[in-house]
Order: sequence, then structure tokens, then C-alpha cells
Amino acid sequence: MTPSGEFGKARDSRLEAEGFPTTVVVGRGVLSRVFRYLSPQDSWAVAADEMTSSLFGSSLGAAGRTFLLPQGEEGKTLSSVAKIYSFLGEHSVDRSGTLIALGGGAVGDAAGFAAATWLRGIRLVQCPTTLLAQVDSSMGGKTGVNLPEGKNLVGAFHPAEWVFADIDCLASQKDGDFRQGLAEVVKYGAGEDWNFFSWLEENASGILRRSPPLLEEVVARCAKMKLAVAAQDEREQRGIRARLNLGHTVGHALEAAGGYEKWKHGDGVAAGMMVAFRLACRLGELDEEHITRLERLLKTFGLPTRPDRPWEEIAPFLLRDKKNLRGSLGLVLPRRDAPCELRRDIPLSLLREACEKTAL
Ligand SMILES: NC(=O)c1ccc[n+]([C@@H]2O[C@H](COP(=O)([O-])OP(=O)(O)OC[C@H]3O[C@@H](n4cnc5c(N)ncnc54)[C@H](O)[C@@H]3O)[C@@H](O)[C@H]2O)c1
Ligand SMILES: [Zn+2]
Repeated sequence: MTPSGEFGKARDSRLEAEGFPTTVVVGRGVLSRVFRYLSPQDSWAVAADEMTSSLFGSSLGAAGRTFLLPQGEEGKTLSSVAKIYSFLGEHSVDRSGTLIALGGGAVGDAAGFAAATWLRGIRLVQCPTTLLAQVDSSMGGKTGVNLPEGKNLVGAFHPAEWVFADIDCLASQKDGDFRQGLAEVVKYGAGEDWNFFSWLEENASGILRRSPPLLEEVVARCAKMKLAVAAQDEREQRGIRARLNLGHTVGHALEAAGGYEKWKHGDGVAAGMMVAFRLACRLGELDEEHITRLERLLKTFGLPTRPDRPWEEIAPFLLRDKKNLRGSLGLVLPRRDAPCELRRDIPLSLLREACEKTAL
């Protein structure tokens, strides 16, 4: 597909970052305008799940060309990707063709990986329908699937050409799923932009009520930050992109220690951010006041603020984190007057102390 030259209504925000190949369009009702941005003269197909297809397939105008994945992580498998390949073959999607992902992060990751590998790579368009996918997973180019041995073990960098974030999709998300996205939103404030953090504090109750104008601003501001960081470190080799993992080291460990059932990703990130704040405070990078503010905001959003188990049960999983390099623990820590940073000089004993203090 090629841009048609007709770029929808003025109310859509268009976001780009220099040197990064993705254009993000944010607005209300954007799904019904996707084909004004793209002229479908080339071959194309859609991958969705049962839920997103039934809720949004007709707004997109995808009838007859949609492959249905199982919902959630069950759809993020190599066997699902193999079925997408067959579907693309049946619909004659060739090297100039496009795959459109319509769904949350799971659909986006699996369809993105299919697009990255079908005929050695075809165009990808992401239509994220969850808050987490709109502020995080649909941008940045990471695609992939799970293996029985672990999550996201197979994948490729394959940035979408377009991301269409339709705010109206967020109205139907389950509260528990919406909350997972809110944790990532708080992460952008705490890690990248304190002005945004203050704005979130001021508007927390409206955001929780899912006021569309507020959600539009949330998604646009987060998308801008994600694009800017991804553009500086497209393949996650320079340590810059690791900044977007504030709260994730302890968060991932909590998810893993709970067998991926007790802790959802955003919940883990929320408690992980509390630990990172406590540690930053101990190092003189933040004040007690910052911890109080984070705790208040997370609680307002219904997110957890404490690890639920002792250090001894968390530690074995911490040491498996992908930010670790040759035995040194990588930790992202917030700072008072600057974006957060990846540190490799933090002794495990200090992390333990912060974890234990936060759990009290
Ligand atoms: N690629 C990346 O950079 C990146 C970043 C973060 C997370 N992820 C991945 O994202 C996935 C999680 O994504 P998610 O949180 O969007 O969850 P999800 O994709 O698993 O969707 C959760 C559920 O919500 C349903 N759903 C989707 N949109 C809906 C809507 N608008 N209304 C009602 N229901 C809706 C889905 O059918 C599904 O059952 C994980 O697999 C994670 O690994 C990827
Ligand atoms: Zn995350």
C-alpha cells in the first residue's frame, strides 16, 4: 500500500520521529479512516483475534480478508504464525503486500513477526486496540512469539509503516487489562518526563473514567516518547531503549516468580517502579516526596505498590533479566531532573534493601 495523499481529518494527530520509519496517527474513530491514509491497490490482509475482529473489523472494513488468531498469549505461537503464512498465500499477498494487525499486543507481536518473515518481509500496519498496545507495543518495531521454553524467545525487529491508534477502542477494554496499560503510562511520566507525571496526577480521575480527550492526550504523548527513544536506538544496542524498562527488572521477576499467573505485566511494573524509586532515593537521586507521589498515583489507578513475596523468592528470577550483562545486574533508575538511566553499578545488596523496604 502507498500513502494516498489524503490524510484524514485535521483532528487526527500525526506523529513521527526523525530517522524512524513509523508514522503514528492518533484520534477518535481513526479505524474507519485507515483506508483514507492507505490506498489499497496492493495485496493486503488483516490478522485479528475473535474479540477485536467482532468489535472493530467492520469499522476497519476488513470483511473477508481477516485471519483470526486465538486471543492473548495463545495466539503468540509459531503455529499461529504458520497459519498466517497460509492465509497470506491464499490471499496472494506478495512482496509489495501489507499485513494489518488489529488487536492488542499479542496480535500485534504475532502478526508483526509474520509480516517480518513472509517473503523476507512485507509492510506492516498496526491498529492497536488496547491501551498497552497504543502506548507501547505497536511502536518500536519489536515483533515475536513465545516458545514453550519462554516468552518472546523468537522474534525480529520490523517497525510498522503506520500505526493507527483509535481512542474509541479503549472504551470496551476490561478494567484489569486497561490498568496494565496505565502502568506503562505512569512509567513514561516517571522515567521520561516529570511534567507528564504531574499532568497524570492532575487528570488521574478523568483518565480512570476513560475520558476520550484525556486518553487522546495520554496516547499521543506516550507515543511521541516511545518513537523518540526507539529512533535513537532502533535495535536496542545502545542502552538508550533500555530506559523504557523502568520498573521492569523487578516487575519481570515478580511475574516469573508467580508463574505468570499471579502478576500481570503492568502490575509487576508498578511494584517494580516502587522498588526503583526507593533505590533511587537511597542513592540521593530522588526525594521521599517522589515515592509518596508515585504510590498515590499507582493506587489511584488501582495498581499494586508492593512485592508480595520475600527477596529470596524474587532474587533467582532477577538474575535472568535480559538487561544483565556478563553477570552485572542492569537496573533502570529514575532521576529528579532528567530522564531515567540504565545503571550497571548497583550492588545486589542495595536492591535487596529497596525491595525489602518496599514490601513492608
Ligand atoms: N512488541 C513490544 O514492544 C511489546 C511491548 C510490550 C508488550 N508486548 C506484548 O504485548 C502483549 C500484551 O498485550 P495487551 O496488553 O494488549 O494484551 P492482549 O493483546 O493479550 O489482549 C488482551 C485481551 O484483550 C482483548 N482486547 C483487545 N482489544 C480489546 C478492546 N478494545 N476491547 C475489549 N477487549 C479487547 C483481546 O482479545 C485479549 O483477550 C504481550 O504478549 C507482551 O509480550 C510487546
Ligand atoms: Zn512493559
